[in-house]
Amino acid sequence: MALDELNEQIRACRKCRLWWGAKNAVPGEGPLNANVMLVGQNPGAEEDETGRPFVGRAGKFLNKVLAHNGIDRQTLFITNIVKHVTPENRKPLPDEIAACVPYLVTQVNEIKPKIVVLMGTAAWKAPRAEGVEYVETVHPSAAMRFAKIRKRFEEDFAALKKRM
Ligand code: URA
Repeated sequence: MALDELNEQIRACRKCRLWWGAKNAVPGEGPLNANVMLVGQNPGAEEDETGRPFVGRAGKFLNKVLAHNGIDRQTLFITNIVKHVTPENRKPLPDEIAACVPYLVTQVNEIKPKIVVLMGTAAWKAPRAEGVEYVETVHPSAAMRFAKIRKRFEEDFAALKKRM
């Protein structure tokens, strides 16, 4: 399936309750031949406003860590395991992840990245596709707030750069 068509499906999705409280779905963005895909939890308020992933505070922090490691954000495909904002930015519920994860599976099958970086425990629930390397790291929102978690996040991105 072409990703344009998938994006339309995501925007029209009513498979769980989250569409009701959202202004915009956030399918993800980046080159369709990206070697690396980043996967977060779900869009926050600014992502909901703009329809773009990781443009709020966590996104700015992520941008800094990418830049520090010489990774160009424009070369990455960036998305989330859940494509709509959640009430009060709570963790997505298991049924919401189950409803949404087929979209991520299609994105991985279409883009065929070499490496998928799963940021945070919600993203860790993504099913693994064969022939793709999966890296589990912490979520940038947690990394932003806690020094120990930040260290892990920064180390994981330094290691990612070496494998790119
Ligand atoms: N946090 C996420 O997990 N994803 C976003 O797109 C923004 C914040």
